[in-house]
Amino acid sequence: MLFNIALISSLAAAVIAAPAPVPQTTNNPTYSWDVTGWSAGCARAGCYYDFNITAPAHGTNPTVPAFSAYCSGSENGFGLGGDYRACNIFDDLPANRGVVAKLLPAPTGSGAHIQVSLQWTDLEQASTYYNYTGHANSTYNQFVAPLQSFKITPTEFFGVA
Ligand SMILES: *[C@@H]1O[C@H](CO)[C@@H](O)[C@H](O)[C@H]1NC(C)=O
Ligand SMILES: *[C@@H]1O[C@H](CO)[C@@H](O)[C@H](O)[C@H]1NC(C)=O
Ligand SMILES: *[C@@H]1O[C@H](CO)[C@@H](O)[C@H](O)[C@H]1NC(C)=O
Repeated sequence: MLFNIALISSLAAAVIAAPAPVPQTTNNPTYSWDVTGWSAGCARAGCYYDFNITAPAHGTNPTVPAFSAYCSGSENGFGLGGDYRACNIFDDLPANRGVVAKLLPAPTGSGAHIQVSLQWTDLEQASTYYNYTGHANSTYNQFVAPLQSFKITPTEFFGVA
């Protein structure tokens, strides 16, 4: 048990000591995520969102894994642009993936601005991880317009191979 704790803390120290990967901007016109069932609104306690996001597997070296996730959350106590909130991956694919989302302030006017991030580990190389992040402008449509669908094209990428 003590041995395990020592091992975990030395691993944690190694992770902290490693330089943080620098995100690169990316804009691959053949790779995007599909948002469906988008619903967002604002109440006195703040704004909130609800949607599904899915994508097929894409590319090689690394292959971006397919995923289907349900994201739901609200602005935190500090307003828009706070911490990410985990989405719930609901497919059964054999992959080590995480999807997170957060609401940001609208760049202009009163729209909703969502940021989503996908991170995964290559199952055959457990020390690797890759991370894509993308944004989209949408609207606070709840009660006033139907559920919306749109695409998010990731614009930032980093990988530790
Ligand atoms: C998300 O997808 C699941 C599974 O297909 C479905 O049951 C659910 O209604 C969808 N939710 C939204 C917000 O579209
Ligand atoms: C992707 O990297 C960003 C920046 O480090 C981080 O905030 C985010 O949580 C990562 N995404 C996931 C799904 O872990
Ligand atoms: C969101 O809208 C702003 C202002 O119009 C624009 O600059 C930005 O590129 C848009 N973002 C996306 C992801 O389309």
